[in-house]
Amino acid sequence: MTPVKIARFMASMFSRKGGPLRLLDPGAGQGALSCALLEAWKGGFFTFQPDAIDAFEIDSLLLPTLRKNVEREKGNLAIDINIRNMDFIEHAVHCILCRERPYTHAILNPPYKKIRGDSRHRLILRDVGIETVNLYSAFVALSLAMLIAGWQMVAIIPRSFCNGPYFKPFREFIRRHSSIVRIHLFEARNKAFKADKVLQENVIIMLERDTPQGDVTISTSADDTLRDYSSNTYPFAKIVYPGDPQSFFHVPINGGDTLVYPGLLSHSLSDIDIEVSTGPVIDFRMKEFLRYQHEPGDAPLLYPAHLNERVKWPIDGFKKPNAIAYRPETMKWLYPTGFYVGARRVSSKEEKRRIVANTIDPSRFPGMGWLGFENHLNIFHRRKQGISERIARGLTVYLNSSFIDNMIRRFSGHTQVNATDLRSLQYPSRATLEDLGKWAQERKEFGQEAIDHIMETILK
Ligand SMILES: C[S@@+](CC[C@H](N)C(=O)[O-])C[C@H]1O[C@@H](n2cnc3c(N)ncnc32)[C@H](O)[C@@H]1O
Repeated sequence: MTPVKIARFMASMFSRKGGPLRLLDPGAGQGALSCALLEAWKGGFFTFQPDAIDAFEIDSLLLPTLRKNVEREKGNLAIDINIRNMDFIEHAVHCILCRERPYTHAILNPPYKKIRGDSRHRLILRDVGIETVNLYSAFVALSLAMLIAGWQMVAIIPRSFCNGPYFKPFREFIRRHSSIVRIHLFEARNKAFKADKVLQENVIIMLERDTPQGDVTISTSADDTLRDYSSNTYPFAKIVYPGDPQSFFHVPINGGDTLVYPGLLSHSLSDIDIEVSTGPVIDFRMKEFLRYQHEPGDAPLLYPAHLNERVKWPIDGFKKPNAIAYRPETMKWLYPTGFYVGARRVSSKEEKRRIVANTIDPSRFPGMGWLGFENHLNIFHRRKQGISERIARGLTVYLNSSFIDNMIRRFSGHTQVNATDLRSLQYPSRATLEDLGKWAQERKEFGQEAIDHIMETILK
C-alpha cells in the first residue's frame, strides 16, 4: 500500500488544478491515493468541480476499509464515491471497446505481476491493442486509454519498463497516447542523503493524454520525506533518443545530462555483429569433466573469480575448478581461444559498478586451443568465436564506463545483469569501438576517470 507521504506527493503532481474531477483509482487497496487527492482538494490545492471517484478493487476483504477511508475523507463534499469490487482489466477492456473515456484523472499504484502469454488477461488486452507482460503496465495503459484528451495520470510503477525488449510495446503505447510531463525518481543526489532502497526500484510518472510532447521535468528525492527534493527540465530528445528503435526512456540522474550521447549510440549488438551469451558451462552438470589443476590438453575454465578487474588464471587454491577436460562430451560447450569480453552476471552491492568487464586475451592461454566459460559470466563473442582485439578492448572500455553504469542503474535496482539486459543496451558503432580499443591498447593501466574522459572525448 502506498505510504501517506508518497500518496500526498503523487496527488500534488497533477498540474491541471481546475475543471471537472472524475477520478479513476484502479487497484484502490485501502484507498490511500483517492484519500490523498480528496485531502489536497479540501486543503484548497485544487479547484475542481467535484463529480465522481471510481475506485476498483478486486479483493473483497479490503472493501470495508476502502469504503470507510474514502467516505471519511469525503466528509460533506458533494462527490459520488463508487467502490467497485471487480476485475479492473475486464471492466476497462469492456469500456474501451464501447469507446467510453469517462475520466479526467487517474491515480494509481497498480499491482505488479507477470501476465502469462496464454492467460485471459493477455488475450483481452490484445483486443484493445495493448500488448504487455505485467499487470502494472496493463493498468497504466488501460487507465490512459480511458482518460479524456488533455487530462492527466499519475502512477507509481517499477522502473523496469524504461528498458528491456518486453516493455517496448508499452513504451510505444505511452508515447502514442500521451506526453510524458514529469518523472520522479528516488535517488540520493547528495552524499548527505541515503536513497530509500525499496522506493529506488520505482518511479512516479505523470502523463497527459493526447497533448504534444514538450520538455520533461525530472525530479528526484532520496525518500518520501522529500528533504533533498530537486528538479530539472530536459528536452525530450535526452529522455528518448531520436531514432532509437527500442524507445528506451533514459532518466537523467544526479542532475547531470553530461553522460548522454544521443545519436552516437544507436546501434544494437547485432548491428555491430557481436553477440552476448551466458557462459555455457554449468558446472554441476559436468562434474566428471572438471579439473582443479589444469593439465596439458584441458581447456581453461573461467569463473567470475578469474575476471576480477583483470584476468587472473589459474587461481592457486581456488575452491572451484580451473579447467575442464577437452572431450567429445564437452566440446560443444567450449569456445576456441581468442579475444572475448567477459562480464560477471552478479555484482555485490559494495561494488563500484554493476558491470565489471574484462578483455579475455588469448596470449594468457598459450598453447591452449579452447576456453570454457562458466554460467555466471556473460560472454561477448561472434558466432561462438573470438572478436578482434581492438573491438574487444573498446567494448571493455565502453562497458566499464560510468555512462553504462548509470544506464543500468536507471533501469533496475538489481545487482544482476543478464545477457538479455546487455542485448537491450545501445552500443557505439564498430568504428567508435575501434577508436576506444586503440586508446586502450596504447595504455597499460587506466582508471575510471580516464575511461570516462575518453568516452566524453570520443562520443561527444
Ligand atoms: C500495490 S496495491 C496498491 C493499492 C492502493 N492503490 C495504494 O496505493 O495503496 C494494488 C491493489 O490492486 C488490487 N488488484 C490486483 N489485481 C486487480 C484487478 N485485476 N482488478 C482490481 N484490483 C486489483 C490488489 O488487490 C491491491 O489492493
